[in-house]
Amino acid sequence: MLRLVFSLVVTVLALLPPPAWAESAVEARHGMVVAQEARAARIGLDVLERGGNAVDAAVATGFAMAVTYPRAGNIGGGGYMIIRLGERPRGPIGPRNIAIDYRETAPAAATREMFLDEKGNADPKKSRDSAHAIGVPGTVAGLALAHERYGSGRLTLAELIAPAIALARDGFPVEDDIADSLPRARTRFARWPASAKIFLRPDGNVLAPGDMLVQRDLADTLEAVAQRGPSSFYEGPIAEKLAAAVQDAGGIMTADDLKNYRAHLRQPVRGRYRGHEIISMPPSSSGGVVLIEMLNVLEGFKLGDQDDASRLHLMIEAMRRAYADRAVYLGDPAVVSAPLARLMSKRYAAKLRTGINPDRATPSREIRGDVLLPREGDNTTHFSVIDRYGNAVSNTYTLNFSYGVGMVAEGTGVLLNNELDDFAARPAAPNAYGLIGGEANAPGPNKRPLSSMSPTIVLKNGRPLIVTGSPGGSRIITAVLQIIVNVIDRGMSAAEAVAAPRIHHQWSPDRVLVEQSLPNEIVTALEGRGHKIERRPPGTSANTILVTPRGFIGAADPRTRGSLAAGY
Ligand code: GLY
Repeated sequence: MLRLVFSLVVTVLALLPPPAWAESAVEARHGMVVAQEARAARIGLDVLERGGNAVDAAVATGFAMAVTYPRAGNIGGGGYMIIRLGERPRGPIGPRNIAIDYRETAPAAATREMFLDEKGNADPKKSRDSAHAIGVPGTVAGLALAHERYGSGRLTLAELIAPAIALARDGFPVEDDIADSLPRARTRFARWPASAKIFLRPDGNVLAPGDMLVQRDLADTLEAVAQRGPSSFYEGPIAEKLAAAVQDAGGIMTADDLKNYRAHLRQPVRGRYRGHEIISMPPSSSGGVVLIEMLNVLEGFKLGDQDDASRLHLMIEAMRRAYADRAVYLGDPAVVSAPLARLMSKRYAAKLRTGINPDRATPSREIRGDVLLPREGDNTTHFSVIDRYGNAVSNTYTLNFSYGVGMVAEGTGVLLNNELDDFAARPAAPNAYGLIGGEANAPGPNKRPLSSMSPTIVLKNGRPLIVTGSPGGSRIITAVLQIIVNVIDRGMSAAEAVAAPRIHHQWSPDRVLVEQSLPNEIVTALEGRGHKIERRPPGTSANTILVTPRGFIGAADPRTRGSLAAGY
């Protein structure tokens, strides 16, 4: 009888669909791309199969997502890339860890007061919904720089952009996450005729699932970049059209702002966590510094031995303290000199740990400052790439809001960002993610607004172990933290680490965001320690690669419809 019941249970289990996280993990031996949109991931994979390296594949994926994932993939926005080279570059010895900062900049005419109303209060309409919100786009410069300096040399920029051009010209059916996200952007597109032509049907509704998304002007712009290089975007007719469109909409960006734009090569920030090396993004993103500060604090606790609520409590307390420092110290390194070494030191972490009560939440106001009202949003996209030569690339880029400011610059097909909302419009005014910034992140001419994007590579014994990152505004850094803790402290597989419920605290407002899937008993235990909990839908999507002795496991985040881990 018992055997019958047992075999029945086994049969039923075998017939059940696998859990979502199991479906999203893919194993490969030679190379892998994990991205939030399947066509773009396959384009990157094809580059790897043709002998391109991880940087080539990342560049091809990045240009493709500007077409296939227009809510965040872009050439009208900006972002960050972390590269780990398998070998030292030839020629004069160069570093193996590289950060490319292709964040948007404020126009030269930007002022400290540009996002204030007549009473001197922050005016979110200006910083989010007007042409003043548009930063000078950095993506074309950033991807071209990556290809020129770190591509394999086996594939030209034109070859890497070609699939994106074809998809823009021929179109592709609206499905998955684009179909989910377009309706929420309808009113933004309706404001701008050049956007409405592309994303709305003649009846004024957004394209529906199965409709073809065709972007002919974007194909022409990409063709120009493919044939004549990035300068064709930053100078000449395309730049003039971009500047004219922004100015016609009341903005201040000029053709000179575009001509003067530069992507920067930077030294990544580096930390150590339980014998692993963390390589992440330095300012103008806060991501790497805040991540390393949190990991340093947590290294002093045996996280693997804690029950769920105790571990999460300690993580929340680390988050609270690191985000408080973010608000005060971090900004564009061209303007602000932040005490990075101190913030990322083990000594400072030890000091922060002494203030953590293992049984009680520390009210954020006891750490510093006021508690302000939140506003959250989803945006940005991340992809991770690894190749058979030992190179890895972690890339996060964005238009800020989903579909940016919603404005396509007439005659270019380029959808523009509203990234300048990431400045602190005035000290203590929260941006769209509820993040507060001080003077360090005030708007200013040619300045880069502070970001949370955190493309990260974790090394073990000098080789990549985890390649990760996420969209999600202020929630990005804590999502990356949780991937690392899930793998290193909790011994999770890639798929489990990515699928596990996430939490987030950012010092202000003083509350913990938790995904619906976090069990009630853990929430109750956290509340018992004094945490204020808010359930939130997921806003992050951490497309991650884990390296194993047998190859690579790619985990596309099941939170986004259409994400794909593509390997060979
Ligand atoms: N726009 C979101 C970020 O840069 O973090």
